[in-house]
Amino acid sequence: AAAQSERVALTADRLFDADSGQLRSNAVVVIEGERIVEVRSDGKVPDGVRRIDLGDATLLPGLIDCHVHIDWQSGDFNEQILRRSAIDQAVIAHVYARRTLDAGFTTVRNVGSSEFVDVALRNAINRGEVAGPRILASGMALGATGSHMDSGMGMSPYLRFDGFSGIADGVDAIRAKVRFNVKYGADVIKYAASAGVLSEEESVGDPQYSQEEMNTVVDESHRWHRKVAAHAHGTEAIKMAVKAGVDSIEHGSMLDDEAIALMKKHGTYLVADVYNDDYILAEFARLKFPQSMIEKERKVGRVQRESFQRAVKAGVKIAFGTDAGVYPHGDNGKQFAKMTEWGQTAAQALQAATINAADLLGRKDQVGSLKPGLYADVIAVPGNPLDDINLMQKVSFVMKGGKVEKAR
Ligand code: ARG
Repeated sequence: AAAQSERVALTADRLFDADSGQLRSNAVVVIEGERIVEVRSDGKVPDGVRRIDLGDATLLPGLIDCHVHIDWQSGDFNEQILRRSAIDQAVIAHVYARRTLDAGFTTVRNVGSSEFVDVALRNAINRGEVAGPRILASGMALGATGSHMDSGMGMSPYLRFDGFSGIADGVDAIRAKVRFNVKYGADVIKYAASAGVLSEEESVGDPQYSQEEMNTVVDESHRWHRKVAAHAHGTEAIKMAVKAGVDSIEHGSMLDDEAIALMKKHGTYLVADVYNDDYILAEFARLKFPQSMIEKERKVGRVQRESFQRAVKAGVKIAFGTDAGVYPHGDNGKQFAKMTEWGQTAAQALQAATINAADLLGRKDQVGSLKPGLYADVIAVPGNPLDDINLMQKVSFVMKGGKVEKAR
């Protein structure tokens, strides 16, 4: 997107102020090039500024999803898992990026890619050659032999792929793997602290690294100024990851009081994909996923939502993340209603996907709120989303870096 010097003003009846969680009326957001230069709530458009009026709508900062798999989307198990290479995934990933952007998500954190597909997609988007959200890419997720991350999505220990993998055992191998990811362009490091649902292990939540190994992931990643996202369903694995100093717990399904207290003490974010369970239980049998995985989902689905509710109540920091890819890209916004059903106010759910997410990503100076100096990543939904959070599924306007990507 070539920066133009022409100034544009977006106007609408309301604007969501991510800092306060409140709405301001008579919204005016003035944009020059790819940045916001002024935000007003008196309805006045400065002289000589072209106006785009969105009427009875609410302007929000471009949304941020902290947990996606932009290079993959669930489909028929045999076809998707057994017959797709990283190159197949690379060919299709831009379609998922477009759908994500159209849904109002102007920034995503990709946590676990096949080879470096997410890095390549990020670079193509940054060059303006492909449309899509800003991507923070992880490259390949780290995990122990036999872990949730073994063999691509961990679907079978018997699958062997040529080329790159995120498997690393022991402190030396872990340090080397973090460095390898960084060398090839990773912005963030993802690893499996525990077992998972969509993988072959019997357990859904047992720890899969020792404390020393988890400490090493964090120590090496932070040395390179990369934040760490830990996949963790089980209580013990969550506590180990928090003690190791990870920046976010992904899924966080089985939280007890001590885990919640530890997360508060360490300032660890919870990124809980609380919509996911509905989709997996509704669709994954039809998609021919193994019954054992669907049984594991039954063990974490409801428990995860109860954990989320208790974490919200206790004041644990929450950032929005969906695991999109497991369910269709572009449906990311469906999770807002789930978050309000399980304890958040609408304003808190919107903050989770804006200012909190930006904080977790370390990008508050660039994205996540509507303020002068930040990227002009601005979306609109019709009506008032604080009255009806389902409106977050009806994003009608998307601007990214000052460029209109969707207008309806
Ligand atoms: N990728 C995750 C895993 O395989 C998905 C978990 C989805 N289930 C849930 N209740 N959030 O472990």
